[in-house]
Amino acid sequence: MSDLRDDLFTDRAYRTLTELVYEHSRIRLGSDKQTLLANRLRKRLQVLGLDSYDDYCEVLHSAQGKAEIEELVDLISTNHTRFYREEEHFTFLTRRVLPVLVPQLLAGKAPLRLWSAASSSGEEPYTMALVVSEFMMAFPSVEWQITASDISRRMLNTAQQGIYPMDAVKPVPPDLLRRYFQKGVGARSGVCRVRPELRKRVHFERVNLFQSEYPVPLKQHMIFCRNVMIYFDPPSRATAVQRLAHYLAPGGYLVVGHSESLLGIRHGLHSVQQGVYQKT
Ligand SMILES: C[S@@+](CC[C@H](N)C(=O)[O-])C[C@H]1O[C@@H](n2cnc3c(N)ncnc32)[C@H](O)[C@@H]1O
Repeated sequence: MSDLRDDLFTDRAYRTLTELVYEHSRIRLGSDKQTLLANRLRKRLQVLGLDSYDDYCEVLHSAQGKAEIEELVDLISTNHTRFYREEEHFTFLTRRVLPVLVPQLLAGKAPLRLWSAASSSGEEPYTMALVVSEFMMAFPSVEWQITASDISRRMLNTAQQGIYPMDAVKPVPPDLLRRYFQKGVGARSGVCRVRPELRKRVHFERVNLFQSEYPVPLKQHMIFCRNVMIYFDPPSRATAVQRLAHYLAPGGYLVVGHSESLLGIRHGLHSVQQGVYQKT
């Protein structure tokens, strides 16, 4: 294929692509994101044997368009994450949430429900699983499960595999690394895999935060939805927060990233600490 350069975006193609991305994910790409879009789409156009973004737009509007739009959203989403990112939130879970909740769960024989709602490649839900597993050693009869969801199938596949380069697991304390990860040997050296006992605690689902209903149980005790709101415009942010709040149990917590604010959004939750909101 001839080289595709950023200036090959016609106004119409750029508008079509950004509008489709917005319609299907609410991710807002401003007029300055042409290079980013071009970089993310270059390989895809090669795979499809296309020479221009206008041709790509035709594919998006064709019979195979629905699947291709999913692919497009997948390619443009930013998936950066890491184990123990914004660690205070995991500390909040183990020091403030679980000590209060576990006696109630034991009394009512109810399971603990946690949800990582923009889980990316899995570092966030597995960090939740690690810290909960440690806490629950003293309470083996409490049932618990974590739902991990994302709009990106590519990220969900990676997350489900639970295989990470050794560099990526550096934030995991050494004793927990030994307990919850298997180090690769031979051809697999340099990576490690989350042990099956922990992997089976995390249930993966593809969820777009803007789909009409979530295939996730109601009455979640804590929902992490971190570092994704920044890609949405204020009305979309409000929609996502209100829907997520509906999935919280009374007294449950919604956690957003440190650089995200729910200021100006009507959500009926009260602020507990930076990025942590509680349903009353
Ligand atoms: C930057 S990562 C954040 C990962 C993790 N929560 C963290 O804080 O480290 C943002 C994730 O949000 C996902 N995402 C973007 N738009 C979404 C949407 N509309 N619904 C669900 N997930 C979405 C992306 O695919 C990406 O994996």
